Amino acid sequence: MRIFVLTGAGVSAESGLSTFRDASGVWTKYDFRDVATPEGFKRNPVLVHEFYNTRRANLLNCEPNAAHRALAVLEAGLKAQGGRLYLCTQNVDDLHERGGSQHVVHMHGELLRACCARCGWAAPWREDLSTDLACPGCARAGHLRPEVVWFGEEPTHMDQIFHEVSEADLFVSIGTSGSVYPAAGLVEHARRSGVRTCEINLEPSENARRFDEKRYGTASEVVPAWVAEVLGG
Ligand code: OAD
Repeated sequence: MRIFVLTGAGVSAESGLSTFRDASGVWTKYDFRDVATPEGFKRNPVLVHEFYNTRRANLLNCEPNAAHRALAVLEAGLKAQGGRLYLCTQNVDDLHERGGSQHVVHMHGELLRACCARCGWAAPWREDLSTDLACPGCARAGHLRPEVVWFGEEPTHMDQIFHEVSEADLFVSIGTSGSVYPAAGLVEHARRSGVRTCEINLEPSENARRFDEKRYGTASEVVPAWVAEVLGG
C-alpha cells in the first residue's frame, strides 16, 4: 500500500510547539504579515529574526511525541510490506526526523536551516540569526534569513507532491486546519485522482467534508492507533 501523509502544526502540539490558529495560536499574538512575509522582513528584519530565534530556541527544547514516532513505525512497516509512505509536512520543525522518519518533505521549509536572500547560499543553522551576520557565501551582512516559506512565496517540491498524492492508495491529513493553500487543496486533488482520504485531527477541519474517513482526538493517541490498524490489517 502507498500512503501519502500530510501533517500540520497539530502533530507537534503535544511536543510543546504552538499551533497557528487555535485559541492561543501563533497568529493570535503576531500578525503574519509582520513576521511571515518578504515585505515584513524588509520592513522590520529585527522583529522577524526575534520571532524565528524564539521559535528555534523552543524547538531545540522539544521532543518528538508518540504521533511522530508512530509515523516512523509506519514508514518502516510499509516498506517491509513492499509499500511506501510519502511524508509531507507543513511544519518547519524537525520532530518527524527526530521521531525516526527517514524521508520527510518540508513543503514550508525548515527552521533549522538558514539561507541568504541575496546570493542563494543555504545550510543547516541552529544559532540565532541577526541583521549583523555576514553570509558565509557572499560575505554580505543583512541578508541571512531562516529557510522557511513565507506567505507570498512558493512552497517547495509541489510538482512531486501533487504527483505522489495522485499515485497513492490513501491520503491522510493529520493535525492541520486546512486553511493554507496549496496544502489545503491536496485533499481535493486526491479525491479527483480517485484516492481514498482520511482526516486525523483534534476537531473537524475546514476541509472535513472532503474526507471519506475521519478520526478525531489528540494526535498522540489517534495516530499510533491508526498506524497499528494499518500495519496489522
Ligand atoms: P493550524 O494552527 O492552522 O491548525 C492546526 C490544527 O491542528 C487545528 O485544526 C487543530 O484543531 C489541530 N490540533 C491542535 N492540537 C492537536 C492535537 N494535539 N492533535 C491533533 N490535532 C491537533 O496549523 P496548520 O494547519 O499546520 O504556514 O497551518 C498551516 C500553515 O499555516 C503553517 O504551515 C504556517 C501557518 O501560517 C506558514 O507559516 C507559511
